[in-house]
Amino acid sequence: MAIDRKPEFFKGAQLKVAIIGCGYVGLPLALRFAEAGHKVTGFDTDPKKVTMLNGGKSYIEHIPRNKIQQFVHSRHFSATTDFAELKELDAILICVPTPLDERREPDLTYIQQTALSIYPHLQKGQLVVLESTTYPGTTEELVLPILEKSGLHCPIAAGPESESVVCDFWLAFSPEREDPGNKQFGLALIPKVVGGLNPPSGRAAQALYAQVVARVIPVSSTRTAEMAKLLENIFRCVNIALVNELKQLCLRMNIDIWEVIDAASTKPFGFMPFYPGPGLGGHCIPVDPFYLSWKAREYDFSARFIELAGEVNTGMPYHVVDAIARALNDHKKSTKGSKILVLGVAYKKDVDDLRESPTLKIMQLLKERGAMLDYNDPYFPQLHKMRHYNYENMKSVPLTPHSLGSYDAVVIATDHSSYDYPTIVDAAKLVIDTRNATRRVIRHREKIVLC
Ligand SMILES: NC(=O)c1ccc[n+]([C@@H]2O[C@H](COP(=O)([O-])OP(=O)(O)OC[C@H]3O[C@@H](n4cnc5c(N)ncnc54)[C@H](O)[C@@H]3O)[C@@H](O)[C@H]2O)c1
Repeated sequence: MAIDRKPEFFKGAQLKVAIIGCGYVGLPLALRFAEAGHKVTGFDTDPKKVTMLNGGKSYIEHIPRNKIQQFVHSRHFSATTDFAELKELDAILICVPTPLDERREPDLTYIQQTALSIYPHLQKGQLVVLESTTYPGTTEELVLPILEKSGLHCPIAAGPESESVVCDFWLAFSPEREDPGNKQFGLALIPKVVGGLNPPSGRAAQALYAQVVARVIPVSSTRTAEMAKLLENIFRCVNIALVNELKQLCLRMNIDIWEVIDAASTKPFGFMPFYPGPGLGGHCIPVDPFYLSWKAREYDFSARFIELAGEVNTGMPYHVVDAIARALNDHKKSTKGSKILVLGVAYKKDVDDLRESPTLKIMQLLKERGAMLDYNDPYFPQLHKMRHYNYENMKSVPLTPHSLGSYDAVVIATDHSSYDYPTIVDAAKLVIDTRNATRRVIRHREKIVLC
């Protein structure tokens, strides 16, 4: 590897880019670099995924397999489990999971494992970028010391006097803003925040990302970039909690919260709509804020907004199950023994992702209360054993007017666009709608309970 390489090297064509972790974030990023003409190698510890990718197959609903096939055939993309291949590559981008552990504390084992897999192969002149969402300080405190076990160094430095600090390799953090399934904002259109461990690292990472995104936003450090991502997600988490709390108040006051939000949204400045729902889901919003509240404790600081938002959002599935019980009660039925059909297990509409989905909690609570439960989700023909839930052998039931009519209650937990809501309401005896998915249904509104 060229020892005299400059950060500007990453402005060049046909770079060899490694993407570690070919999931919801890593795979689209890999394909974007391939599209821009670079040679991409996807690294994943899951051999099944690697085999599928090399066979031109997709395991993510919104990523078409023809795109993977195109780049596999043109030799711009291949996948491997062999980390020794890292030696030959120019840039290494880390996109591995950052979940919470059983005690709801940051689980950094994936990042740690990845750094341990990189360091034996690290070369002079390589650029390493962490993309996984995490607390400020991770790149400096966790990744850097492991990479430096290689004997190569990357100094922590800031300010103009460190513009030409000497680095054996470059290290940066650049958070991912991917919104899976968002047709309006694909990766190439989303500005990318980049912070280096020192100015040359920042320049190297900026040069690389400028090739694949419309705008790069440089910030002064990896910690700033790490914190920026958390601010974005905490902003969403807190505002969703606010609107979820106001929804519960509006229900008591007999005010339609969705009408309120639509009205408030007409303000042309200073307001941004957030919508209530059955609770928070997905890999990011229910998880990431707790990375910061955990880190804050190291500074004797209690991040109260985060904790409060967590409390409100975690309470939402309980609110939904209470609302179902009340609605059944109005029909002279108890939850115990009632046949309930839950529509949508994905954490949000039109995605094949059920991580942290509040529907899973709602189903568990309904089961505990003795309901006879079925579900339908076009994206999940069947469920499997998960970390917190065991829905093994449960299969999505077909939706027909006859089957819909056979349930005591139909709960709309996720508002997939493919559902025919007028038909659902027509056929069902009782509909509990947690998303206001039935807003345009005109007939039989008396069967609908918004909650
Ligand atoms: N999913 C999103 O919408 C989203 C958006 C923004 C940021 N993020 C962040 O991006 C990161 C990745 O999330 P994701 O949704 O892509 O996760 P994911 O679970 O979809 O994908 C992670 C991939 O990494 C692989 N992996 C795990 N350990 C590995 C290792 N040691 N070496 C190589 N591969 C390994 C897994 O097999 C999996 O394929 C997380 O930090 C997440 O918070 C996710």
